[in-house]
Amino acid sequence: VQRSLVLVKPDGVRRGLSGEILRRIEAKGYTLAAVELRDATPEVLAEHYAEHEGKPFYAPLVEFMLSGPVLAVVIEGERCIEGFRSLAGATDPTVAAPGTIRGDLGRDWGLAVQQNLVHGSDAPESAAREIGIWFPGLTA
Ligand code: GTP
Ligand code: MG
Repeated sequence: VQRSLVLVKPDGVRRGLSGEILRRIEAKGYTLAAVELRDATPEVLAEHYAEHEGKPFYAPLVEFMLSGPVLAVVIEGERCIEGFRSLAGATDPTVAAPGTIRGDLGRDWGLAVQQNLVHGSDAPESAAREIGIWFPGLTA
């Protein structure tokens, strides 16, 4: 079966939404293969967000991701990569559909980076890469 890397970003942890987000993942029927609250590091984030290096939101994004602990999660289930992206909703929380994590719980706070509560891998290759970064002991 498929695995995906999910992060509850610092805004989600700070707002006490970790449980609600895990609840939605489990209610959908996905299994939690790993859950760990931890502080990201610049090294881990440089790897995780390598594709965004050089973009205008990169520095604020890294700063935001270092602003507090993140909940790193590996979920498991048939087509869970696509399934979690669907649960999460669009990147911009203002326009993310109601019913989604970002649409129900997120909004724009007028900051340099979109604080949109969660990250989810976007393809099998990214899931394998990201699970390796956050949980070196696990395989996709
Ligand atoms: P998707 O966009 O659905 O892939 O979700 P994602 O969280 O994986 O977003 P993506 O990988 O494109 O970008 C990483 C993160 O950077 C986003 O979640 C946002 O926090 C932030 N971000 C992305 N695009 C923008 C943007 O155009 N403006 C701002 N301010 N922040 C952005
Ligand atoms: Mg992405």
